[in-house]
Amino acid sequence: MTVPPPQHSRHAAGGAESVPPPGCPAHAATGPDGTTRLYGDAAATDPMGLYEKLRAAHGPVAPVLLDGDVRAWLVLGYLENRDVAARSTQFSRDSRVWHGWRSGEIDPETSPLMPLIGWSPDCVNADGEEHQRLRGAVTAGLGQFDHRGIRRHITRFAHQLVDSFCQSGRAELVEQFTEHLPMLTLTHLLGMSEEDGPKLVHAARDLFKATETSLASNAYILESLERLVVAKRARPGQDIASALMAHPAGLTDEEVQHHLRLILLAGYETTANLMANVLRMVVTDERFRGSLTGGQMTLPEAVEQVLWDEPPLLVCPARWANGDTTLGGQRIKAGDMLLLGVAAGNVDQAIRPDPSAPVHHSRAHLSFSAGSHECPGQDIGRVIADTGIDVLLTRLPDVALAVPEQELSWRSSTWTRHLTTLPVKFAARSPRVPEIAEPLPAPPPPTGGLPPERPAAPWPQNAPEPARVPAPRRSLWTRLGRLLGRR
Ligand code: HEM
Repeated sequence: MTVPPPQHSRHAAGGAESVPPPGCPAHAATGPDGTTRLYGDAAATDPMGLYEKLRAAHGPVAPVLLDGDVRAWLVLGYLENRDVAARSTQFSRDSRVWHGWRSGEIDPETSPLMPLIGWSPDCVNADGEEHQRLRGAVTAGLGQFDHRGIRRHITRFAHQLVDSFCQSGRAELVEQFTEHLPMLTLTHLLGMSEEDGPKLVHAARDLFKATETSLASNAYILESLERLVVAKRARPGQDIASALMAHPAGLTDEEVQHHLRLILLAGYETTANLMANVLRMVVTDERFRGSLTGGQMTLPEAVEQVLWDEPPLLVCPARWANGDTTLGGQRIKAGDMLLLGVAAGNVDQAIRPDPSAPVHHSRAHLSFSAGSHECPGQDIGRVIADTGIDVLLTRLPDVALAVPEQELSWRSSTWTRHLTTLPVKFAARSPRVPEIAEPLPAPPPPTGGLPPERPAAPWPQNAPEPARVPAPRRSLWTRLGRLLGRR
Protein backbone atom coordinates (compact mmCIF):
# COMPACT_ATOMS: atom_id res chain seq x y z
CA MET A 1 0.00 0.00 0.00
CA THR A 2 1.22 3.49 -0.77
CA VAL A 3 0.68 6.45 1.47
CA PRO A 4 -1.19 9.27 -0.30
CA PRO A 5 0.76 12.53 -0.57
CA PRO A 6 -0.19 15.38 1.73
CA GLN A 7 -2.81 17.52 0.01
CA HIS A 8 -5.19 19.08 2.48
CA SER A 9 -5.32 21.46 5.38
CA ARG A 10 -1.74 22.59 5.17
CA HIS A 11 -1.27 25.84 6.94
CA ALA A 12 1.95 27.74 6.93
CA ALA A 13 2.73 30.89 8.80
CA GLY A 14 4.75 33.06 6.49
CA GLY A 15 3.86 31.33 3.21
CA ALA A 16 0.39 29.87 3.00
CA GLU A 17 0.36 26.52 1.23
CA SER A 18 -3.42 26.55 0.84
CA VAL A 19 -5.55 29.63 1.08
CA PRO A 20 -9.22 29.12 1.93
CA PRO A 21 -11.76 31.18 0.01
CA PRO A 22 -12.67 34.38 1.88
CA GLY A 23 -15.45 33.78 4.37
CA CYS A 24 -15.19 29.99 4.14
CA PRO A 25 -17.18 28.80 7.20
CA ALA A 26 -14.95 25.75 7.65
CA HIS A 27 -12.00 28.07 8.27
CA ALA A 28 -13.70 30.56 10.56
CA ALA A 29 -12.07 31.12 13.97
CA THR A 30 -15.25 30.23 15.82
CA GLY A 31 -18.00 27.64 15.46
CA PRO A 32 -21.71 28.34 14.98
CA ASP A 33 -22.24 29.11 18.68
CA GLY A 34 -19.19 31.34 18.96
CA THR A 35 -16.91 28.74 20.58
CA THR A 36 -13.27 29.08 19.50
CA ARG A 37 -11.97 26.56 17.01
CA LEU A 38 -8.66 24.95 17.87
CA TYR A 39 -8.16 24.14 14.21
CA GLY A 40 -8.20 26.08 10.95
CA ASP A 41 -6.14 29.04 9.87
CA ALA A 42 -6.55 31.22 12.96
CA ALA A 43 -5.36 28.43 15.25
CA ALA A 44 -2.57 27.38 12.91
CA THR A 45 -1.09 30.81 12.33
CA ASP A 46 -0.63 31.89 15.94
CA PRO A 47 -1.46 29.14 18.44
CA MET A 48 0.26 30.87 21.37
CA GLY A 49 -1.70 34.06 20.70
CA LEU A 50 -4.89 32.03 20.56
CA TYR A 51 -4.17 30.39 23.93
CA GLU A 52 -3.64 33.80 25.53
CA LYS A 53 -6.95 35.07 24.12
CA LEU A 54 -8.69 31.99 25.51
CA ARG A 55 -7.00 32.46 28.88
CA ALA A 56 -8.08 36.10 29.01
CA ALA A 57 -11.66 35.20 28.10
CA HIS A 58 -12.17 32.02 30.15
CA GLY A 59 -9.37 31.66 32.73
CA PRO A 60 -7.33 28.44 33.10
CA VAL A 61 -9.83 26.13 31.35
CA ALA A 62 -11.53 27.11 28.08
CA PRO A 63 -14.18 25.53 25.85
CA VAL A 64 -12.87 24.81 22.33
CA LEU A 65 -13.86 22.98 19.16
CA LEU A 66 -11.75 20.32 17.45
CA ASP A 67 -11.86 19.29 13.79
CA GLY A 68 -15.51 18.74 12.80
CA ASP A 69 -16.54 21.11 15.63
CA VAL A 70 -16.12 18.38 18.23
CA ARG A 71 -16.36 19.89 21.72
CA ALA A 72 -13.55 19.76 24.28
CA TRP A 73 -12.04 21.71 27.18
CA LEU A 74 -8.55 23.10 26.69
CA VAL A 75 -6.64 23.24 29.99
CA LEU A 76 -4.43 26.34 29.90
CA GLY A 77 -3.25 26.69 33.50
CA TYR A 78 -0.01 25.03 34.62
CA LEU A 79 -1.44 23.80 37.92
CA GLU A 80 -4.72 22.72 36.33
CA ASN A 81 -2.79 20.68 33.74
CA ARG A 82 -0.84 18.95 36.49
CA ASP A 83 -4.05 18.38 38.39
CA VAL A 84 -5.77 16.70 35.42
CA ALA A 85 -2.71 14.56 34.63
CA ALA A 86 -2.30 13.50 38.27
CA ARG A 87 -5.96 12.73 39.13
CA SER A 88 -6.29 9.60 37.01
CA THR A 89 -9.39 8.31 38.81
CA GLN A 90 -11.24 11.57 38.10
CA PHE A 91 -9.85 12.10 34.61
CA SER A 92 -9.67 8.88 32.61
CA ARG A 93 -7.30 8.17 29.74
CA ASP A 94 -9.82 5.68 28.30
CA SER A 95 -11.53 7.41 25.39
CA ARG A 96 -14.55 5.10 25.61
CA VAL A 97 -15.67 7.27 28.53
CA TRP A 98 -16.40 10.09 26.05
CA HIS A 99 -20.09 10.93 25.55
CA GLY A 100 -19.38 12.04 21.98
CA TRP A 101 -19.50 8.42 20.74
CA ARG A 102 -23.12 8.14 21.81
CA SER A 103 -24.28 11.65 20.88
CA GLY A 104 -23.10 11.20 17.29
CA GLU A 105 -20.84 14.25 17.58
CA ILE A 106 -18.17 12.43 15.58
CA ASP A 107 -18.24 10.08 12.60
CA PRO A 108 -15.66 7.42 13.57
CA GLU A 109 -15.44 6.23 9.98
CA THR A 110 -14.19 9.52 8.61
CA SER A 111 -13.04 11.83 11.40
CA PRO A 112 -9.35 12.76 11.19
CA LEU A 113 -9.38 12.88 15.00
CA MET A 114 -9.71 9.10 15.19
CA PRO A 115 -5.99 8.20 15.24
CA LEU A 116 -5.54 10.54 18.18
CA ILE A 117 -8.67 10.05 20.26
CA GLY A 118 -10.01 6.70 19.04
CA TRP A 119 -9.60 3.84 21.51
CA SER A 120 -6.83 1.33 20.85
CA PRO A 121 -5.51 -1.49 23.04
CA ASP A 122 -2.43 0.33 24.34
CA CYS A 123 -1.25 1.85 27.59
CA VAL A 124 -2.24 5.38 26.58
CA ASN A 125 -5.91 4.34 26.53
CA ALA A 126 -5.78 2.40 29.78
CA ASP A 127 -6.23 3.34 33.44
CA GLY A 128 -5.29 1.73 36.74
CA GLU A 129 -4.05 -1.86 36.84
CA GLU A 130 -4.45 -2.41 33.10
CA HIS A 131 -2.32 0.66 32.49
CA GLN A 132 0.33 -0.65 34.87
CA ARG A 133 0.39 -4.04 33.11
CA LEU A 134 0.88 -2.54 29.64
CA ARG A 135 3.13 0.29 30.74
CA GLY A 136 5.38 -2.18 32.57
CA ALA A 137 6.10 -3.95 29.28
CA VAL A 138 6.78 -0.64 27.48
CA THR A 139 9.10 0.58 30.22
CA ALA A 140 11.01 -2.71 30.15
CA GLY A 141 11.27 -2.58 26.34
CA LEU A 142 12.61 0.97 26.37
CA GLY A 143 14.80 0.39 29.41
CA GLN A 144 16.74 -2.56 27.99
CA PHE A 145 19.12 -0.27 26.06
CA ASP A 146 21.82 1.48 27.98
CA HIS A 147 22.10 5.10 26.95
CA ARG A 148 25.72 4.85 25.94
CA GLY A 149 24.77 2.12 23.51
CA ILE A 150 21.92 4.17 22.04
CA ARG A 151 24.18 7.21 21.84
CA ARG A 152 26.70 5.22 19.83
CA HIS A 153 24.07 4.35 17.21
CA ILE A 154 22.69 7.89 17.10
CA THR A 155 26.20 9.25 16.65
CA ARG A 156 26.82 6.93 13.73
CA PHE A 157 23.46 7.75 12.08
CA ALA A 158 24.04 11.48 12.59
CA HIS A 159 27.48 11.31 10.98
CA GLN A 160 26.01 9.43 8.03
CA LEU A 161 23.36 12.09 7.58
CA VAL A 162 25.89 14.93 7.78
CA ASP A 163 28.13 13.06 5.34
CA SER A 164 25.28 13.02 2.84
CA PHE A 165 25.17 16.84 2.56
CA CYS A 166 28.39 18.32 3.98
CA GLN A 167 30.12 18.57 0.60
CA SER A 168 27.51 20.87 -0.86
CA GLY A 169 27.93 23.68 1.71
CA ARG A 170 24.13 23.90 2.01
CA ALA A 171 21.47 21.73 3.61
CA GLU A 172 17.80 21.70 4.43
CA LEU A 173 18.02 20.54 8.02
CA VAL A 174 14.38 19.50 8.51
CA GLU A 175 14.25 17.41 5.35
CA GLN A 176 17.79 16.06 5.57
CA PHE A 177 18.48 15.80 9.27
CA THR A 178 15.83 16.32 11.94
CA GLU A 179 13.12 14.26 10.24
CA HIS A 180 15.45 11.34 9.68
CA LEU A 181 17.55 10.91 12.78
CA PRO A 182 14.70 10.07 15.19
CA MET A 183 13.10 7.69 12.69
CA LEU A 184 16.42 5.96 11.98
CA THR A 185 16.98 5.54 15.70
CA LEU A 186 13.45 4.44 16.58
CA THR A 187 13.06 1.96 13.69
CA HIS A 188 16.39 0.49 14.71
CA LEU A 189 15.39 0.21 18.39
CA LEU A 190 12.03 -1.26 17.42
CA GLY A 191 13.75 -3.90 15.29
CA MET A 192 12.40 -2.73 11.89
CA SER A 193 14.03 -3.03 8.51
CA GLU A 194 15.61 0.07 7.02
CA GLU A 195 13.36 -0.02 3.96
CA ASP A 196 10.42 1.01 6.14
CA GLY A 197 12.14 4.26 7.14
CA PRO A 198 11.27 6.83 4.43
CA LYS A 199 7.63 5.76 4.04
CA LEU A 200 7.18 5.76 7.79
CA VAL A 201 8.56 9.31 8.00
CA HIS A 202 5.87 10.37 5.55
CA ALA A 203 3.05 8.43 7.19
CA ALA A 204 3.93 9.54 10.72
CA ARG A 205 4.06 13.20 9.69
CA ASP A 206 0.73 12.87 7.87
CA LEU A 207 -0.95 11.28 10.84
CA PHE A 208 -0.24 14.28 13.05
CA LYS A 209 -1.64 16.71 10.50
CA ALA A 210 -5.11 15.21 11.16
CA THR A 211 -6.10 15.43 7.48
CA GLU A 212 -8.30 13.17 5.37
CA THR A 213 -5.22 11.08 4.55
CA SER A 214 -4.45 10.53 8.23
CA LEU A 215 -6.56 7.37 8.34
CA ALA A 216 -4.69 5.86 5.39
CA SER A 217 -1.37 6.78 7.00
CA ASN A 218 -2.43 5.16 10.24
CA ALA A 219 -3.38 1.98 8.37
CA TYR A 220 -0.02 1.96 6.60
CA ILE A 221 1.87 2.22 9.89
CA LEU A 222 -0.18 -0.60 11.42
CA GLU A 223 0.47 -2.86 8.41
CA SER A 224 4.24 -2.29 8.65
CA LEU A 225 4.15 -3.11 12.34
CA GLU A 226 2.06 -6.21 11.79
CA ARG A 227 4.79 -7.49 9.47
CA LEU A 228 7.36 -6.72 12.14
CA VAL A 229 5.46 -8.67 14.80
CA VAL A 230 5.23 -11.73 12.54
CA ALA A 231 8.96 -11.51 11.76
CA LYS A 232 9.98 -11.12 15.41
CA ARG A 233 7.76 -13.95 16.62
CA ALA A 234 9.69 -16.16 14.23
CA ARG A 235 13.10 -14.68 15.00
CA PRO A 236 13.41 -12.54 18.16
CA GLY A 237 16.29 -10.11 18.54
CA GLN A 238 17.53 -7.47 20.94
CA ASP A 239 14.88 -4.91 20.14
CA ILE A 240 11.72 -3.37 21.56
CA ALA A 241 9.37 -5.60 19.54
CA SER A 242 10.99 -8.77 20.91
CA ALA A 243 11.09 -7.37 24.46
CA LEU A 244 7.37 -6.56 24.39
CA MET A 245 6.58 -10.10 23.26
CA ALA A 246 8.80 -11.70 25.90
CA HIS A 247 7.51 -9.58 28.81
CA PRO A 248 5.62 -11.44 31.59
CA ALA A 249 2.67 -9.04 31.11
CA GLY A 250 1.75 -11.43 28.29
CA LEU A 251 0.84 -8.94 25.56
CA THR A 252 -1.17 -10.33 22.65
CA ASP A 253 0.15 -9.77 19.13
CA GLU A 254 -2.42 -7.02 18.67
CA GLU A 255 -1.28 -5.31 21.86
CA VAL A 256 2.35 -5.59 20.81
CA GLN A 257 1.54 -4.07 17.43
CA HIS A 258 -0.36 -1.16 18.96
CA HIS A 259 2.42 -0.46 21.45
CA LEU A 260 5.00 -0.43 18.69
CA ARG A 261 2.83 2.10 16.84
CA LEU A 262 2.53 4.14 19.98
CA ILE A 263 6.28 4.18 20.60
CA LEU A 264 6.99 5.08 16.98
CA LEU A 265 4.47 7.90 16.83
CA ALA A 266 4.92 9.23 20.34
CA GLY A 267 8.69 9.27 19.89
CA TYR A 268 9.14 10.35 16.28
CA GLU A 269 7.23 13.56 15.66
CA THR A 270 8.04 14.93 19.08
CA THR A 271 11.77 14.31 18.88
CA ALA A 272 12.00 15.60 15.28
CA ASN A 273 10.17 18.78 16.35
CA LEU A 274 12.40 19.24 19.36
CA MET A 275 15.55 18.97 17.25
CA ALA A 276 14.27 21.40 14.62
CA ASN A 277 13.25 23.90 17.30
CA VAL A 278 16.66 23.78 19.01
CA LEU A 279 18.52 24.13 15.69
CA ARG A 280 16.33 27.05 14.67
CA MET A 281 17.25 28.80 17.90
CA VAL A 282 20.95 28.13 17.22
CA VAL A 283 20.83 29.71 13.74
CA THR A 284 18.45 32.59 14.52
CA ASP A 285 19.12 33.69 18.08
CA GLU A 286 22.60 35.09 18.68
CA ARG A 287 22.17 35.16 22.44
CA PHE A 288 21.13 31.50 22.51
CA ARG A 289 24.04 30.49 20.30
CA GLY A 290 26.45 32.68 22.24
CA SER A 291 25.43 31.02 25.52
CA LEU A 292 26.07 27.63 23.96
CA THR A 293 29.43 28.39 22.42
CA GLY A 294 30.51 30.45 25.42
CA GLY A 295 29.76 27.58 27.78
CA GLN A 296 27.11 29.44 29.85
CA MET A 297 24.55 26.90 28.67
CA THR A 298 25.17 23.23 27.94
CA LEU A 299 23.42 21.51 25.06
CA PRO A 300 21.12 19.53 27.40
CA GLU A 301 20.17 22.84 29.09
CA ALA A 302 19.45 24.38 25.68
CA VAL A 303 17.20 21.42 24.88
CA GLU A 304 15.36 21.89 28.18
CA GLN A 305 14.89 25.61 27.52
CA VAL A 306 13.28 24.79 24.16
CA LEU A 307 11.09 22.16 25.84
CA TRP A 308 9.73 24.97 28.01
CA ASP A 309 9.33 27.55 25.25
CA GLU A 310 8.37 25.50 22.20
CA PRO A 311 7.11 22.10 23.32
CA PRO A 312 7.00 19.48 20.55
CA LEU A 313 3.36 18.74 21.44
CA LEU A 314 1.42 21.98 21.87
CA VAL A 315 -1.67 20.13 22.99
CA CYS A 316 -1.74 16.61 24.34
CA PRO A 317 -4.79 14.41 23.69
CA ALA A 318 -6.76 13.72 25.95
CA ARG A 319 -8.58 12.95 29.22
CA TRP A 320 -12.27 12.19 29.82
CA ALA A 321 -14.13 13.12 33.01
CA ASN A 322 -15.36 10.10 34.97
CA GLY A 323 -17.97 12.24 36.72
CA ASP A 324 -19.21 15.80 37.10
CA THR A 325 -16.59 18.08 38.61
CA THR A 326 -15.22 21.61 38.50
CA LEU A 327 -11.84 22.64 37.16
CA GLY A 328 -10.42 26.14 36.88
CA GLY A 329 -13.87 27.57 37.57
CA GLN A 330 -15.55 25.56 34.79
CA ARG A 331 -18.23 22.93 35.36
CA ILE A 332 -17.06 19.75 33.69
CA LYS A 333 -19.71 17.12 32.95
CA ALA A 334 -19.20 13.35 33.11
CA GLY A 335 -17.83 12.15 29.76
CA ASP A 336 -16.46 15.57 28.69
CA MET A 337 -13.16 15.60 26.82
CA LEU A 338 -10.23 17.59 28.20
CA LEU A 339 -7.01 18.43 26.38
CA LEU A 340 -3.73 19.12 28.16
CA GLY A 341 -2.57 22.54 26.98
CA VAL A 342 1.14 21.85 27.29
CA ALA A 343 2.42 24.97 25.51
CA ALA A 344 -0.08 27.23 27.28
CA GLY A 345 0.72 25.71 30.68
CA ASN A 346 4.46 26.13 30.18
CA VAL A 347 4.09 29.91 29.88
CA ASP A 348 1.43 30.34 32.56
CA GLN A 349 2.24 33.54 34.49
CA ALA A 350 1.42 31.70 37.71
CA ILE A 351 4.73 29.85 37.42
CA ARG A 352 6.65 31.98 34.90
CA PRO A 353 6.04 35.67 35.51
CA ASP A 354 8.71 36.51 32.92
CA PRO A 355 8.68 33.91 30.11
CA SER A 356 11.78 35.49 28.54
CA ALA A 357 13.90 34.67 31.61
CA PRO A 358 16.03 31.50 31.21
CA VAL A 359 14.74 28.48 33.11
CA HIS A 360 18.27 27.23 33.84
CA HIS A 361 18.14 23.69 35.18
CA SER A 362 14.41 23.29 35.69
CA ARG A 363 12.75 20.24 34.16
CA ALA A 364 9.35 21.04 35.66
CA HIS A 365 7.73 21.82 32.29
CA LEU A 366 4.69 19.96 31.02
CA SER A 367 6.25 18.87 27.73
CA PHE A 368 6.44 15.22 28.79
CA SER A 369 3.12 15.52 30.66
CA ALA A 370 2.84 14.32 34.27
CA GLY A 371 1.21 11.66 36.41
CA SER A 372 0.99 7.98 35.56
CA HIS A 373 1.10 8.54 31.77
CA GLU A 374 4.18 10.81 31.87
CA CYS A 375 6.32 10.06 28.84
CA PRO A 376 8.39 6.90 29.43
CA GLY A 377 10.63 7.67 26.43
CA GLN A 378 11.72 11.15 27.47
CA ASP A 379 15.31 10.16 28.12
CA ILE A 380 15.53 8.50 24.71
CA GLY A 381 14.04 11.64 23.13
CA ARG A 382 16.57 13.78 24.96
CA VAL A 383 19.51 11.56 24.02
CA ILE A 384 18.54 11.59 20.32
CA ALA A 385 18.22 15.38 20.34
CA ASP A 386 21.39 16.04 22.38
CA THR A 387 23.56 13.61 20.46
CA GLY A 388 22.29 14.49 16.99
CA ILE A 389 22.63 18.23 17.50
CA ASP A 390 26.05 17.79 19.09
CA VAL A 391 27.29 15.84 16.06
CA LEU A 392 25.86 18.39 13.62
CA LEU A 393 27.35 21.40 15.42
CA THR A 394 30.67 19.66 15.90
CA ARG A 395 30.88 18.85 12.21
CA LEU A 396 29.50 22.21 10.99
CA PRO A 397 30.40 24.81 13.64
CA ASP A 398 29.93 27.61 11.06
CA VAL A 399 26.34 26.56 10.22
CA ALA A 400 24.16 29.62 9.50
CA LEU A 401 20.67 30.31 8.26
CA ALA A 402 20.63 30.50 4.42
CA VAL A 403 17.46 32.61 4.10
CA PRO A 404 16.04 35.63 5.97
CA GLU A 405 14.42 34.44 9.19
CA GLN A 406 11.00 35.77 8.07
CA GLU A 407 10.99 33.20 5.27
CA LEU A 408 10.90 30.25 7.67
CA SER A 409 7.50 28.58 7.62
CA TRP A 410 5.59 26.30 9.94
CA ARG A 411 2.94 23.67 9.48
CA SER A 412 0.42 23.45 12.25
CA SER A 413 -2.39 21.31 13.49
CA THR A 414 -4.28 21.38 16.76
CA TRP A 415 -1.58 19.23 18.34
CA THR A 416 1.75 20.28 16.92
CA ARG A 417 3.52 23.08 15.13
CA HIS A 418 6.69 22.30 13.30
CA LEU A 419 9.10 23.98 10.97
CA THR A 420 8.65 22.90 7.37
CA THR A 421 12.16 23.95 6.32
CA LEU A 422 15.39 25.11 7.90
CA PRO A 423 17.77 25.97 5.04
CA VAL A 424 21.36 26.47 6.20
CA LYS A 425 24.76 27.16 4.71
CA PHE A 426 28.30 26.41 5.85
CA ALA A 427 31.76 25.93 4.36
CA ALA A 428 31.70 22.81 2.19
CA ARG A 429 33.76 19.98 3.66
CA SER A 430 34.50 16.34 3.01
CA PRO A 431 32.61 13.47 4.56
CA ARG A 432 34.21 12.66 7.90
CA VAL A 433 34.80 8.97 7.61
CA PRO A 434 34.71 7.29 4.23
CA GLU A 435 31.83 4.89 4.47
CA ILE A 436 33.79 2.03 3.01
CA ALA A 437 36.30 2.22 5.84
CA GLU A 438 33.69 2.78 8.58
CA PRO A 439 34.53 0.37 11.40
CA LEU A 440 31.55 -1.83 12.03
CA PRO A 441 30.38 -2.23 15.61
CA ALA A 442 31.11 -5.51 17.29
CA PRO A 443 28.11 -7.84 17.43
CA PRO A 444 26.20 -7.54 20.71
CA PRO A 445 26.91 -10.19 23.31
CA PRO A 446 24.27 -12.92 23.36
CA THR A 447 22.81 -11.98 26.76
CA GLY A 448 22.29 -8.24 26.33
CA GLY A 449 24.44 -5.19 26.98
CA LEU A 450 26.21 -3.24 24.29
CA PRO A 451 29.95 -2.62 23.89
CA PRO A 452 31.10 0.70 25.35
CA GLU A 453 30.94 3.69 23.03
CA ARG A 454 33.88 5.78 21.95
CA PRO A 455 34.12 8.95 24.05
CA ALA A 456 32.00 11.75 22.52
CA ALA A 457 33.89 14.72 21.11
CA PRO A 458 33.19 18.06 22.78
CA TRP A 459 31.60 20.91 20.80
CA PRO A 460 32.95 22.96 19.16
CA GLN A 461 35.66 20.69 17.82
CA ASN A 462 38.34 21.65 15.31
CA ALA A 463 39.56 18.28 14.15
CA PRO A 464 41.32 18.26 10.76
CA GLU A 465 39.24 16.88 7.93
CA PRO A 466 40.31 13.42 6.73
CA ALA A 467 40.99 12.88 3.05
CA ARG A 468 37.95 11.70 1.15
CA VAL A 469 37.96 8.23 -0.37
CA PRO A 470 35.34 7.88 -3.10
CA ALA A 471 32.63 5.45 -2.06
CA PRO A 472 30.10 3.70 -4.26
CA ARG A 473 26.87 5.73 -4.59
CA ARG A 474 23.97 4.10 -2.85
CA SER A 475 20.95 5.58 -1.15
CA LEU A 476 21.43 6.54 2.46
CA TRP A 477 18.83 4.04 3.61
CA THR A 478 20.50 1.22 1.69
CA ARG A 479 23.89 2.11 3.10
CA LEU A 480 22.59 2.25 6.64
CA GLY A 481 20.76 -0.98 6.08
CA ARG A 482 23.92 -2.68 4.94
CA LEU A 483 25.77 -1.58 8.03
CA LEU A 484 22.98 -2.61 10.37
CA GLY A 485 22.47 -5.86 8.54
CA ARG A 486 26.04 -6.81 9.24
CA ARG A 487 25.79 -6.29 13.00
C1 HEM B 1 11.04 15.13 22.88
C2 HEM B 1 10.44 14.00 22.70
C3 HEM B 1 9.14 13.58 23.35
C4 HEM B 1 8.11 14.32 23.87
C5 HEM B 1 8.00 15.84 23.95
C6 HEM B 1 7.12 13.39 24.38
C7 HEM B 1 5.95 13.76 24.98
C8 HEM B 1 4.99 12.88 25.44
C9 HEM B 1 3.73 13.24 26.01
C10 HEM B 1 3.25 14.68 26.21
C11 HEM B 1 3.06 12.11 26.32
C12 HEM B 1 1.62 12.01 26.80
C13 HEM B 1 1.44 11.64 28.24
C14 HEM B 1 0.01 11.82 28.68
O1 HEM B 1 -0.94 11.42 28.01
O2 HEM B 1 -0.16 12.37 29.75
C15 HEM B 1 3.91 11.01 25.96
C16 HEM B 1 3.58 9.69 26.14
C17 HEM B 1 4.32 8.65 25.68
N1 HEM B 1 5.56 8.73 25.08
FE1 HEM B 1 6.62 10.41 24.73
N2 HEM B 1 7.57 12.13 24.15
C18 HEM B 1 8.78 12.20 23.53
C19 HEM B 1 9.58 11.15 23.14
C20 HEM B 1 9.25 9.84 23.27
C21 HEM B 1 10.07 8.74 22.84
C22 HEM B 1 11.43 8.89 22.17
C23 HEM B 1 9.38 7.60 23.10
C24 HEM B 1 9.77 6.17 22.87
C25 HEM B 1 10.97 5.76 22.53
C26 HEM B 1 8.12 7.98 23.72
C27 HEM B 1 7.16 7.10 24.15
C28 HEM B 1 5.97 7.46 24.77
C29 HEM B 1 4.95 6.50 25.21
C30 HEM B 1 5.01 4.99 25.06
C31 HEM B 1 3.92 7.25 25.79
C32 HEM B 1 2.63 6.71 26.43
C33 HEM B 1 2.82 6.55 27.92
C34 HEM B 1 1.56 6.15 28.69
O3 HEM B 1 0.44 6.44 28.25
O4 HEM B 1 1.71 5.53 29.76
N3 HEM B 1 8.09 9.34 23.80
N4 HEM B 1 5.08 11.50 25.43
